[in-house]
Amino acid sequence: VLEPILQHFCQGFEMLKAINELDRHNAAVGPEIEEAMLRVARSGWYVLGKEVKAFEDAFAEFCGVSHCVGLANGTDALELALKAVGVQARDEVITVANAGMYSTVGILAAGATPRYVDASVKSLTMAPDCLTAAIGKKTAAVIVTHLYGQLAAIEEIRAITVAAGIPLIEDCAQAHGAMLNGKRAGSWGDIGCFSFYPTKNLGALGDGGAIVTNRQEVAANVLKLRQYGWASKYSVALQGGRNSRLDEMQAAVLSVKLPKLDGWNARRRSIANTYCQLIDNPAVQVVNRPTDGFVSHLFVIRSMHRESLRAHLKSLGIPSEVHYPILDCQQQILLNRLSQIALPVSELACNEILTLPCFPEMTDIEVSAVVFAVQSWKSKSQQ
Ligand SMILES: Cc1ncc(COP(=O)(O)O)c(C=O)c1O
Repeated sequence: VLEPILQHFCQGFEMLKAINELDRHNAAVGPEIEEAMLRVARSGWYVLGKEVKAFEDAFAEFCGVSHCVGLANGTDALELALKAVGVQARDEVITVANAGMYSTVGILAAGATPRYVDASVKSLTMAPDCLTAAIGKKTAAVIVTHLYGQLAAIEEIRAITVAAGIPLIEDCAQAHGAMLNGKRAGSWGDIGCFSFYPTKNLGALGDGGAIVTNRQEVAANVLKLRQYGWASKYSVALQGGRNSRLDEMQAAVLSVKLPKLDGWNARRRSIANTYCQLIDNPAVQVVNRPTDGFVSHLFVIRSMHRESLRAHLKSLGIPSEVHYPILDCQQQILLNRLSQIALPVSELACNEILTLPCFPEMTDIEVSAVVFAVQSWKSKSQQ
């Protein structure tokens, strides 16, 4: 009975502005951020100073590793991580094709070639059996992406890379704080890469990134690579160096936010749990059923009639996004460069996935509105 009334009420009404509302998120720590930014502005020191060092120490401790090196963004983190573990031009690096092109951009920037493996149907993260089949003589590293806030099958993947003697790089840009058996994302492989882009679970007020690692020599390499390859001022000791530094202002903001991260992740997880419990539409499947260690960076559903569902949500003021609409191997710049490969799971998912709003400041009413919007959609096959 309520459905037509609600539908009428919601028509033309913008329930949420976007799948992420950063003004609301940052307002939750507004005064503390302003104080931190003022402190930096007045300090006279803006690049690689005590704010960056303090954040690096705190973030390493949070991740349960011994080293963190702050960088300019998450894509640089991937590139410099590859270089730091010894990947050379013309090496191959194995990755998935459904994680937004970031690992590919890092691999190409390091001069290497991506080799794609398919995702598993259940999680849409790297399928361990596909990884095993793809490892060859040219494989110099593996990048595993903890997509949507869930750890990939990291125990199996680590066992495979250890047995093959290949470095494992974790792309944790969507998984700050995610855990399995008490171990955080970033502490499983040889090196973990983070982005602090503003929409991330731990986001700066601009760009930022970092690597974390337990390997002292790998951390030392990244420390050089982030600053022209310098071993000491003006003395370049390492090839492949760049300028990729986290600045003091962003580090100060991140230090304010880090202690709140577990609480924010818990709220994201509880929204995801509500979606899982209440979304019961035969034409919709939920991709991730949250576990304790899931940090619900993106809440993703799938449907064979995605565009119709998306239009219906929009008509009720509910924004949605697709993460991601183009597979890496189908991006224009790679079409003539790589031989065709079949990635059936990734290809199908690409046409069906849809991300619903999920951020810690969402009210229960907004969460209910999203559920109502999904529940009230009937695909053609149901009509
Ligand atoms: C999985 C993943 N890896 C890497 C990145 C790249 O991070 P950045 O935008 O900071 O370069 C992002 C996000 O944008 C991401 O989602």
